[in-house]
Amino acid sequence: MGEMNRIGRWFVNSGNARRSARILDTLGTALQLPPSSRVLELGAGRGGLSALLYERYRPGRLVVTDFDPAQVESARASLSARFAPLPAAVELRQVDAMALPFEDASFECVVAMAMLHHVEAHHFDYRNRPKALAEIRRVLSPRGVLAFSEFSRTEEMRRTLIDLGFTPLFEKSGRRGRVLALFRSPG
Ligand SMILES: C[S@@+](CC[C@H](N)C(=O)[O-])C[C@H]1O[C@@H](n2cnc3c(N)ncnc32)[C@H](O)[C@@H]1O
Repeated sequence: MGEMNRIGRWFVNSGNARRSARILDTLGTALQLPPSSRVLELGAGRGGLSALLYERYRPGRLVVTDFDPAQVESARASLSARFAPLPAAVELRQVDAMALPFEDASFECVVAMAMLHHVEAHHFDYRNRPKALAEIRRVLSPRGVLAFSEFSRTEEMRRTLIDLGFTPLFEKSGRRGRVLALFRSPG
C-alpha cells in the first residue's frame, strides 16, 4: 500500500507506545528471548515496541525497520531521545517486508505488529502475504520466533504459516477479529 499520509502516520504513531506496552503484557512469559538474541522489527512505526524489547531482553542486535523513511526517522528520534544515546546494538533501516535485505537465518525473533496487511494493495487482499511470510521464515534461524498482530485474513495467514512449517506457540484473539500470536519457525 506504500507510505501512509501524515494523518495516517500521526494516528498510528500516537497509539504506538500504549499498544506496545499492552502487547508485551499480553505475551508475558510466552515470549522468551535468550540473551544476545538478534531481533528484527518490521513496520515498527515509531519504535515503541522495539524500545520495550530492548529494555526487557537486551538483544545483541535489534534492527528496527519500516518501509516508510519518515517512520524510520520518527523511530530514530524517539529511540535516540529515550536511550540518549542510541545503544550500539540498535540499528534503524528502511526495509520492505516483501524483500528483506538480510541473509538466511539472521534473527532469532521477527516482530510484525499490525503491519502484515500493509504489504497488500488493499487491507483485505491476500496476494502478497505468503511472500512476506516466506521472507520472514527465510531470515529466521531454525526454531526462531515470529511475533505478530493482525486483523485481516488471519485464518489464511495461520494456514500459510503452518504450510511453511511454523508451529503455533501462543494465540490470543481480541476485538474485531484481531489476533496476537507467536509462531516458531521449523527446526
Ligand atoms: C499500522 S502501522 C503499525 C506500526 C507499529 N507496528 C505499531 O503497531 O504501532 C503499519 C506500519 O507498517 C509500515 N509498512 C507499510 N508497508 C510496509 C512494508 N511493505 N514493509 C514494511 N513496513 C511497511 C507502515 O509504514 C507503518 O509504519
